[in-house]
Amino acid sequence: MCGIVGALAQRDVSSILLEGLRRLEYRGYDSAGLAIINQQKLERFRALGKVQQLTDRVPLDQAGKIGIAHTRWATHGKPSETNAHPHFSRDRIAVVHNGIIENYREIRENLLAAGYEFASETDTEVIAHLIESYYEDDLYAAVKQAVDQLRGAFSLGIIATGDSPALVACRRGSPLVVGVGIHENFIASDVSALLPVTNRFVYLDEGDFVVLNAEGYALYDSAGKPKELEITVSERTGDSTFKGNYRHFMQKEIHEQARAITDCLVGRIDTTTVLDSIFGSESEAVFTQLQNIQIVACGTSYHAGLVAKYWIEAILGISCQVEVASEFRYRKTVVPKHTLFVTLSQSGETADTLAALRNLSSDNYCGSLSICNVPESPLVRESSLVLMTRAGPEIGVASTKAFTTQLVSMLLLVISIGKLRNLNESRIASIVRELIELPRQIEQLLRLDAQIELIAEDFIDKQHALFLGRGEHYPIAMEGALKLKEISYIHAEAYPAGELKHGPLALVDSEMPVIVVTPNDELLEKLQSNMQEVKARGGKLYVFAHQGAKLDQSGDDVVVEMDCETSWVTPILSTIPLQLLSYHVAVLRGTDIDQPRNLAKSVTVE
Ligand code: M6R
Repeated sequence: MCGIVGALAQRDVSSILLEGLRRLEYRGYDSAGLAIINQQKLERFRALGKVQQLTDRVPLDQAGKIGIAHTRWATHGKPSETNAHPHFSRDRIAVVHNGIIENYREIRENLLAAGYEFASETDTEVIAHLIESYYEDDLYAAVKQAVDQLRGAFSLGIIATGDSPALVACRRGSPLVVGVGIHENFIASDVSALLPVTNRFVYLDEGDFVVLNAEGYALYDSAGKPKELEITVSERTGDSTFKGNYRHFMQKEIHEQARAITDCLVGRIDTTTVLDSIFGSESEAVFTQLQNIQIVACGTSYHAGLVAKYWIEAILGISCQVEVASEFRYRKTVVPKHTLFVTLSQSGETADTLAALRNLSSDNYCGSLSICNVPESPLVRESSLVLMTRAGPEIGVASTKAFTTQLVSMLLLVISIGKLRNLNESRIASIVRELIELPRQIEQLLRLDAQIELIAEDFIDKQHALFLGRGEHYPIAMEGALKLKEISYIHAEAYPAGELKHGPLALVDSEMPVIVVTPNDELLEKLQSNMQEVKARGGKLYVFAHQGAKLDQSGDDVVVEMDCETSWVTPILSTIPLQLLSYHVAVLRGTDIDQPRNLAKSVTVE
């Protein structure tokens, strides 16, 4: 979603801001803009489309030592140059904003009555005018007064003309970090934007304000009380935001999965078991008493939760519910005693997932666990137990390595809980062995790339596709369908194969590709019957068949043989060819793979 960058330095900052925006492109956006104070005057550049289009408009020698910049993902008002941020008020105040102002209508009415003129359809513009209405010479005081009237979840960056230049920012429900440099300081919605200029960051708490000025930076809490926060030195390098030899980030991230899973396992297992306390020192007490697990997540992370439910119930015999966060957060729920609340999230800042965690009110929860890929993200900071997936930065909007490392993390959770509840040691050792083998098996499956690239040609002109699965492969079918629709824009649906004849079979004809993953398990025969139902209606099958899965093949079927035996980790393996298929179909259809239309990487608004 929207990205914010801001800088106050002793050098000109436009190139720092543009590079920052480029590094935030992965979050998803439709327009971009930048405002700079040059010789006491606000100057603004905005463009619909990519950051490159904005860059083309900013003179190479643009002067100005203080500025803010933004990538916008439209919520209020269509994507257009006039709706792009920064928004100005009376050429004195410039504002960039991530999030939503819920009470913007009433504020707008009051401001109109006070004589302010509006140039855009955005909720953001009210913030600029409201601040301007309070601004005399203390920008922080004016921002504080304005923010106290705003409702919603947001973060802001503000600059103003005046005698003593300052940049004020605040965080209310949407992430914001301060980058600490040498005689220069920055703000951004994500550390990746600032990695070329600093590796020292201050993570603002909810409600905090920061004021950057010539002397340095000052922090205030939501009540306006000065505060201090620790500086965290990031180990990330700027390089992780480069594609290397790959054509797209998604392609790079698919091929990084063996490495990502190895990183996820390192220091957490030995050859026979999972090490103690990898979920934190308090985990043992929580895992011993829990009697139920509630998983909440969105999108791909939700699919990981669905797979985990099969593992938790089958291996541990503990009941488990999984729900999308946007539903869970608004529902009255019945919480069984000793329920562990688990959130799964790549970004750790998904608004619905975070709200679900924050809204927990029942005393029946015995703890909250976040499985996440971004350290210092709000979900991580606000959960009692944490396991980082260590997938490394995921830039492509389509989640790939984050998903497979989430699944690995969930298996680590299952074993950690099992260890404390008398799960058979040899069973534990056998799952651990499967995990150890996983990176090698993934490398092997990635060799299917060329074969799958050829198969992808069949999908170039397709409008629809159906994915079928049974058991824990049903969520994998859902993930396959999500990947395909997300990046190739082909309408794709997933069904539990047994549901086919209860409706979706009506859609099957020669134009409907049907994609099935066939593990060699006890459901194979049932799955075969469902595949016959497809063939009898002229549908074309694309089968990803596991080792030993004997199929009643016919000449028309496209079968990809996967060199993997059926085991607990099979759903993780089955994901790989489906990711490759979506990727190659999207390449052939010429879509914007890393930043698919209308989508954002971090969904920080509802
Ligand atoms: O950061 P999160 O894992 O919480 O994000 C959840 C979804 O927005 C995300 O998985 C989304 O569905 C992906 N674009 C799917 O590829």
